[in-house]
Amino acid sequence: MSDLLYVNGGTPLNGTIRVRGAKNFVSKAMVAALLGETPSVLRNVPEIRDVHVVSGLLQLHGVNVDYDVEAGTLSLDPSNVETAHVADIDAHAGSSRIPILFCGPLLHRLGEAFIPDLGGCRIGDRPINYHLDILRAFGAQVDKHPHGIFLSAPNGLKGTKYQLAYPSVGATEQLLLTAVRAEGITELSNAAIEPEIMDLINVLQKMGAIISVDTDRVIRIEGVSSLKGYSHTALSDRIEAASWASAALATKGDIFVEGATQPEMLAFLNTFRKVGGQFEVQDNGIRFYHPGGDLKSIVLETDVHPGFMTDWQQPLVVALTQAKGLSIVHETVYENRLGFTEALRGMGAQIQVYKECLGGRDCRFGQMNFHHSAVVAGPTPLTAADIEVPDLRGGFSHLIAALAAEGRSKVRGITLIDRGYENFMGKLKALGASFELSD
Ligand code: EPU
Repeated sequence: MSDLLYVNGGTPLNGTIRVRGAKNFVSKAMVAALLGETPSVLRNVPEIRDVHVVSGLLQLHGVNVDYDVEAGTLSLDPSNVETAHVADIDAHAGSSRIPILFCGPLLHRLGEAFIPDLGGCRIGDRPINYHLDILRAFGAQVDKHPHGIFLSAPNGLKGTKYQLAYPSVGATEQLLLTAVRAEGITELSNAAIEPEIMDLINVLQKMGAIISVDTDRVIRIEGVSSLKGYSHTALSDRIEAASWASAALATKGDIFVEGATQPEMLAFLNTFRKVGGQFEVQDNGIRFYHPGGDLKSIVLETDVHPGFMTDWQQPLVVALTQAKGLSIVHETVYENRLGFTEALRGMGAQIQVYKECLGGRDCRFGQMNFHHSAVVAGPTPLTAADIEVPDLRGGFSHLIAALAAEGRSKVRGITLIDRGYENFMGKLKALGASFELSD
């Protein structure tokens, strides 16, 4: 596929699109299948690049993967799990961060694991110190090599008590995927409790795990000696749903997002309403629309669940450029997730970024020299531009900006977007967007 899209903006996006399973759950549920003695079946799987990357990694480890793309069904048979060649994992993992989550399951199955240097979106340093610390706490031996990390568990993995310094999503998943088959009891304090993690816990419970979640971010796991396969329907992608909702607002459109669900989107829906967007929750999805008139400026702080997700921030900022007054955005999850605003400035947006914590409370990036707060002044008409997609969410936001802007924009690097947005060009067509893929 070509990497360059010409977008003819200025037309409201109107119509219906469908979102399927959450990218940030599906990939983890696929890894969980490694823990079972029998095959697993996952439904509502979107066709995104991350699914192909994790399928490939599973296949390298001997898992038989049968993927019915149309039906969105993945069958994963882990009967013959084996050690993969280091070079193959490295070549296949590409920019994905998922390999780090293979550690616990592979240590249980094979007694060893290799993790190549990790990629993922360039939205900060994205360290893996919590992950390695957790694996060590279970008794794993961690050896760093020039191209990655070798892990082994000569004496098996044993339950542990662990407190996270920050409720990291990936680190919580790491602990869950390791604890379920570790010997004895594990207790995690300050755990992340995102809906995608709760759905992973659903999957693990179906497999035979014993996991309880307290209201104070404490998760307890009683290790069991074996697990079986699962059959599960993935929860819906609330990041994709919010991205299309923001696109409706920024382009003055009206989009019905089939498959969007209210409980996982409470914080987004409150903010969407405060900005002046309207929505209707229906049985099979949510309609998001611009009701006409002025949008309102807001103060927005991203946070871990149940707060306003960091992944919702970038698409919504595009809509905030069309709101009347000064909006304040404080990004508290990643230190470097406002870089995408530079391209918006080039399109006419008035956005100033700051190192200080604006918006009401101090976060851990406050004294650290990171531009993690922004003031957005609006409304400013957006004009077409040449844009280079920086990362998945930033890239989708640039696409929304190009669709809202008058004129013809060039958007380069669009293949980054299909890492997490299923058939986004087909959906744009269905919504009446005008664009051409360069030859
Ligand atoms: N962190 C550390 N050390 C670690 C791990 C994390 O300092 O070992 C820090 C990170 O640098 C970050 C914060 O903790 O500042 C939160 O990171 P977290 O571990 O929660 O993020 P993640 O598991 O790497 C997942 C999603 C992200 C999403 C975040 C937050 C996947 C594959 N990725 O990342 O999704 O933004 O949780 O909800 O599940 C995306 O979909 O575009 C995306 C980036």
